[in-house]
Amino acid sequence: MKKSAIKVGIIGFGTVGAGVARILLEKRDELKRRLGFPVVLAGIADLDVKRDRGIKLPAGILINDAKALLNNPGIDIVVELIGGIHPAKEFILEALKKGKHVVTANKALLATEGSDIFNFMKKKKVELGFEAAVAGSIPIIKIVREALIANNIQAVYGIINGTSNYILTKMTEEKVEFSDALKEAQALGYAEADPTFDVEGIDTAHKLAILASLSFGIPFSFKKIYTEGITRITPLDINFASALGYKIKLLAIAKQSGGEVELRVHPTMLPKEQLISSIDGVFNAIYVEGDAIGSQLYYGRGAGERPTASAVVSDIVDTARNIKSGSIGRIQGLGMPEISGIRIRNMENVLSRYYFRFSAIDKPGILSRIAGILGACNISIESVIQKGRKKEKAVPLVMMSHEAKEMDVVRALREIDKLPVVSDRTAFIRIEGRENN
Ligand code: HSE
Repeated sequence: MKKSAIKVGIIGFGTVGAGVARILLEKRDELKRRLGFPVVLAGIADLDVKRDRGIKLPAGILINDAKALLNNPGIDIVVELIGGIHPAKEFILEALKKGKHVVTANKALLATEGSDIFNFMKKKKVELGFEAAVAGSIPIIKIVREALIANNIQAVYGIINGTSNYILTKMTEEKVEFSDALKEAQALGYAEADPTFDVEGIDTAHKLAILASLSFGIPFSFKKIYTEGITRITPLDINFASALGYKIKLLAIAKQSGGEVELRVHPTMLPKEQLISSIDGVFNAIYVEGDAIGSQLYYGRGAGERPTASAVVSDIVDTARNIKSGSIGRIQGLGMPEISGIRIRNMENVLSRYYFRFSAIDKPGILSRIAGILGACNISIESVIQKGRKKEKAVPLVMMSHEAKEMDVVRALREIDKLPVVSDRTAFIRIEGRENN
């Protein structure tokens, strides 16, 4: 197709929408120089056309009607930045139906309805870019789908929710409770509209679903991801972890072995000396392990106006280049025309090391009782700490296990928590990284 300018319409003039508009306007000449043709911001639709976003827009391009933007035959690429499932899905399908290409940052939509959208696209000569949906500015989609094509990916894991990482960092550095750290994250505007998505691991699981599909050729599997958030993490556990040489991070983990992939999101104890443990605040970091590359770590800003807009503009430009060169559809959604047949491992069969904090009455024989149940459930203890004495009162009793099966741990804790000498539900955190021998 020969066209002089590629025209872009944005639906959603919030933080990221404003960032994309700003970059397209400020860098119009620079992009034209690099691409050899102009990329023009031709329309923006948002219900709020009054609020000043501090951008001088060309006259008449901001409208309050997304349908009018979708009906504009001049627009080649529609950028969906309203988030959520509805009406974002309908807008995207409508754009694709009209033969327009789409760029989106909508991780929740892709993780839950991505298969539907890609199926819809199958017979159409259209593209859907979603680099900004995972880890903001880090080009992890392109890395996994294109740059690492020579590899069989064995594992992808990392910190992909800045808000929960900010909260855990705050709790670690300032020894504050979860609720206080969350309030601060909200005040700074880091948390999603509904902070449940951030702190319960849901946003992380959305992003992991997308990464796992690209990495292992599996359908979007958000519902099958074991997801546990950070709301039960306490300063007490953070201190014990630190004394044992670990930091606690909310990790997204996808690991492949034996034709199966395990998909899980949960707070994880990581050795302090491991690079990923030093990723603090709102930053993201992702390890990719491949059979050709070994292990690589990608690090950067995972949210925010300009970092996320950077990823959106990269997709706009990729699509624009493909339109210009007549190579639309060169790379399919997941980067492969067929899925792989890799199955998702049931969480109960996942192996991990564990940190346990029992709240047990301090009296003779209790340690052996607990250890006895763990032993009977095939859980081998690596180390034990009990600090302080409160005769006949509950004290924290901390144990680290060797590798154990999730189902054995669930069974053991069910029994231990029923003991009359155990006063509170046992806290447990899975451990990744070195084994202390
Ligand atoms: N709430 C998300 C985060 C925003 O904290 O990472 C980016 O997806």
